[in-house]
Amino acid sequence: MRHMDTLLNFSAADVQEIFATTDELKTQSLQGNRDPRLAGSVLTMLFEKPSLRTRISFEAAMAHLGGTCIFLSTAEAGLNGRESAADVARVLGGYSDFVVMRTFEQSLIDQFAQHAGCPVINGLSNDSHPCQALTDFFTIREEFGSLAGRRLTYIGDGNNVAKSLAICAGLLKVPYVVSSPAGYELTPGFLQQLKHAIPDVDITLIEDPHAAVNDADVVYTDVWASMGQESESNARKQIFGPYRVDADLMAAAAPGAKFMHCLPAKRGLECTDEVIDGPASIAFQQAENRMHVAKGVLSWLSNVNAK
Ligand code: CP
Ligand code: NVA
Repeated sequence: MRHMDTLLNFSAADVQEIFATTDELKTQSLQGNRDPRLAGSVLTMLFEKPSLRTRISFEAAMAHLGGTCIFLSTAEAGLNGRESAADVARVLGGYSDFVVMRTFEQSLIDQFAQHAGCPVINGLSNDSHPCQALTDFFTIREEFGSLAGRRLTYIGDGNNVAKSLAICAGLLKVPYVVSSPAGYELTPGFLQQLKHAIPDVDITLIEDPHAAVNDADVVYTDVWASMGQESESNARKQIFGPYRVDADLMAAAAPGAKFMHCLPAKRGLECTDEVIDGPASIAFQQAENRMHVAKGVLSWLSNVNAK
């Protein structure tokens, strides 16, 4: 059974197949055709944290593909001690063709993948956000026509999004630079895991954000305090101040560089209005692509697991 748990379990060929399926479904959809290839299928969503894009993009994706969605918070599902995770997974798997989960611990997603008996999709954990990273590279490829020769710089916290971008960049052979304040970098443990999985990954950590964006075709940022880190928000505002993506930092990137953000954004903190609302920003194209890539992921999982 293939899952969308972490991109560490994916090959470049898998990602290219998902992109090809997404291309096909996006083109059809823009022509007004919605291919009901998942008619009768049920997707159950189980979320421990809030969501706008992930939840609604999967709901819209299932509606386009002819299937249906059920949404539950993890507390409503009984994961607050009413029942074991393995039992909830077995039960939900019996009703569902897919499960999408948003959790604090990645291990809860892994437990579901082990017990649900249907494909489990990671809709964000503290460690990873694979559907976001797939969407981001799909969007860069769409915007520039190809990924060949493109360079991505991520500015900010070495968080779930920064890590999934690193894995996807490695698979797709896109040079990736990460610029974080001291103490908030990608961890040595993660970098070791990444280099073990993708030995030829081209990743560089550069503390100075101006040096880090040199030659970047895409400058990417995310919130300084992720969900679950709200109590650190004030301290992080001081530490991350020099890492704000503003017009000055964008001007230090390659000519024509684009700005990306997974959203939600804390405007005025990690990026200025001028940048996120400006002509270089593709953040909202990126958000829309979450739905197209959700369709690609669902369709790909359905095909690959039917083989
Ligand atoms: N980018 C993203 O995952 O957004 P949500 O948290 O709103 O789902
Ligand atoms: N790093 C952010 C991403 C939100 C989509 C978080 O985990 O809250």
